[in-house]
Amino acid sequence: MKIAVLPGDGIGPEVTAEAVRVLEALALPGLTLFEGDVGGIAYKRHGVPLPEETLTMAREADAILFGAVGDPSCDTLERHLRPEQAILGLRKHLGLFANLRPAKVFAGLEHLSPLRPDIAASLDMLIVRELTGDVYFGAKGQRATDSGDREGWDMMAYSAPEVRRIAHVAFRAAAAAGHGLTSVDKANVLEASQLWRDVVVEVAAEYPQVPLDHMYVDNAAMQVVSHPHRFKVMLTGNLFGDILSDLASAAVGSIGLLPSASLGERETAFGTFGLYEPIHGSAPDIAGQGKANPMATILSAAMMLRHSFGMESEAARIETAVSAALADGFLGGDLGGSHGTAAIGEAVRARL
Ligand code: IPM
Ligand code: MG
Repeated sequence: MKIAVLPGDGIGPEVTAEAVRVLEALALPGLTLFEGDVGGIAYKRHGVPLPEETLTMAREADAILFGAVGDPSCDTLERHLRPEQAILGLRKHLGLFANLRPAKVFAGLEHLSPLRPDIAASLDMLIVRELTGDVYFGAKGQRATDSGDREGWDMMAYSAPEVRRIAHVAFRAAAAAGHGLTSVDKANVLEASQLWRDVVVEVAAEYPQVPLDHMYVDNAAMQVVSHPHRFKVMLTGNLFGDILSDLASAAVGSIGLLPSASLGERETAFGTFGLYEPIHGSAPDIAGQGKANPMATILSAAMMLRHSFGMESEAARIETAVSAALADGFLGGDLGGSHGTAAIGEAVRARL
């Protein structure tokens, strides 16, 4: 079982190190870890954010544990050299089109949410975000307008096959959980969204047991914080899912708690090939200070065991240990606590 560990920038190395220690604490036989450079650190060492050797290592692995990319000192580089291109490139090159972002308020930890506790208690949803299309990967550029002003533009497009395959992922997840599915779009304004909605309706015919509804993205943003119980499985495009998953994480209490899995179609000997990363970024303001909450990355490692290695009980062990550590008050600064990265990692391992 080969895992490519790609720590990246900012707090990435600190949080992935704790997740690796949790995996090591489980003493799983046959686990081999490789480490590679991505993001700003890769640009500084190799001149590109996603070096060929990192991509090769990622391709040859059974799963990838990813930290974060982003480095303010790289923000003025040409776009193709910026750290973010590493994660976008990995998603695209590896065909990781299905991004699973579970967001739930841990029982007993409603007080960590900025929402009223009775509302927070009902937040338990899975966001299924399309990850390799949309305005993220369309043509883009800057040009001069007729009046000689500068104009920036990005093309938003979704093809029917792109929508169909992510819709199937979401319908299967909803069917497996016995839940309904909410598809998010902006079909009242955007053609890409109209096509999205039409294709989701077509796919729905194959899942008569899954109740489907559609919601405009602006309304969805409002409902996530006012009536989160309305959502069980939410299907979104790339851009809307990016925004709504940050919103959902804030509603949980912190972006430092939410993991993600990015899956494609490739099956390995053990499960589905995937990339696992916290949904937070590199947090340059607290990088290197041992302050970052590693729980989102630790929970991402649990998702890796579940989806890429078929180890449901080990995944559940990690998740239970994280909730126990939270319940015992091991809160990072993101949750108003004072525990550091190492202390939180240690607390989780002690509860495995
Ligand atoms: C995420 C991040 C990325 C995204 C960035 C780093 C490119 O915000 O994974 O949500 O926008 O997808
Ligand atoms: Mg994001």
